Amino acid sequence: MKKIGVLTSGGDTPGMNAAIRAVVKAGMHYDAEVVGIYKGYYGLIHDLIKPLDGNAVYNIIHRGGTILKSARCDEFKTAEGRVKAFETIDRHNIEGLVVIGGDGTLTGARLLGKEHDLPIIGLPGTIDNDLYGTDYTIGYDTAVNTVVAAVDKIRDTAHSHDRLFIVEVMGRDAGFIALRSGIATGAEKILIPEARTFIEDLYDSLEKGRSHDEGAGIIIVAEGDDFGGAMEVEKKIKKRFPDFDIRVSILGHIQRGGAPSAYDRVLASGLGYQAVKALVEGRRGMMVGSINRKIEFTPFEQTIKYNSPINVELHSIAEILAL
Ligand code: F6P
Repeated sequence: MKKIGVLTSGGDTPGMNAAIRAVVKAGMHYDAEVVGIYKGYYGLIHDLIKPLDGNAVYNIIHRGGTILKSARCDEFKTAEGRVKAFETIDRHNIEGLVVIGGDGTLTGARLLGKEHDLPIIGLPGTIDNDLYGTDYTIGYDTAVNTVVAAVDKIRDTAHSHDRLFIVEVMGRDAGFIALRSGIATGAEKILIPEARTFIEDLYDSLEKGRSHDEGAGIIIVAEGDDFGGAMEVEKKIKKRFPDFDIRVSILGHIQRGGAPSAYDRVLASGLGYQAVKALVEGRRGMMVGSINRKIEFTPFEQTIKYNSPINVELHSIAEILAL
């Protein structure tokens, strides 16, 4: 393997830069040239490619975002788009790819690899933590810590003003951020898409909560929950408890930015190195992850087909601890 391309695609995550750095340094170790593909798959189609050396990745391990930029690219979802992408790969004599991103990124990688017989290794890069084949995705730990820091501050106001705050966190299809941050902040209720919440149960908990803190509290809602997000939850609660002083706080993209946590830097560094090693050893069509602290390779077919299981027991424990 003489030349490897690396790209970041989909939503950016803290730790992507640490992963890019590891890919470049591992390439140097294995005598493979590494080129950066800018703006994800869009950059493959439109030939946005530059060589990356040690200098290019100097002083980036601690930075959020991605120096390669990222994008969601509809053209790449078509076979014609992927033909154009492969023409660029061919023109640059790129022999293997490392792609860093979430579900959509790995789906694209699977198709490109199969249709054009190209070795590709994926790295799990999404704050949502919803990829099968790894315990943690790159960026998840940082995002959870960002949410915890924000909710701790919100709780000060909730307590001082006897207010109920409904805090919406990211997770289009998954409740990992909501569950973990909800437990860490002692949230009174956590609403996630993986466990259905019955509205009467929610009212019951709020009724109980009213007695010990006059209705003050925190409800964490994953954006993909059954009710349709924090605003909808607020409407329902307001109807049932008109006397509650309720505020909604949608944390949004602050969860995707900022310096990666030590955990994310270490995870990204290890997986970035493993991805290059895997390509050099002739592996392809797989995502590299970490399960029970061991490096595991999972075929793209499986990472795409299966959902990462959420810890439902932890959700029940959260309910008990919130009483
Ligand atoms: O997939 C990561 C994620 O942050 C989701 O949690 C969120 O729904 C989505 O990206 C937001 O995407 P965009 O930044 O394109 O609006």
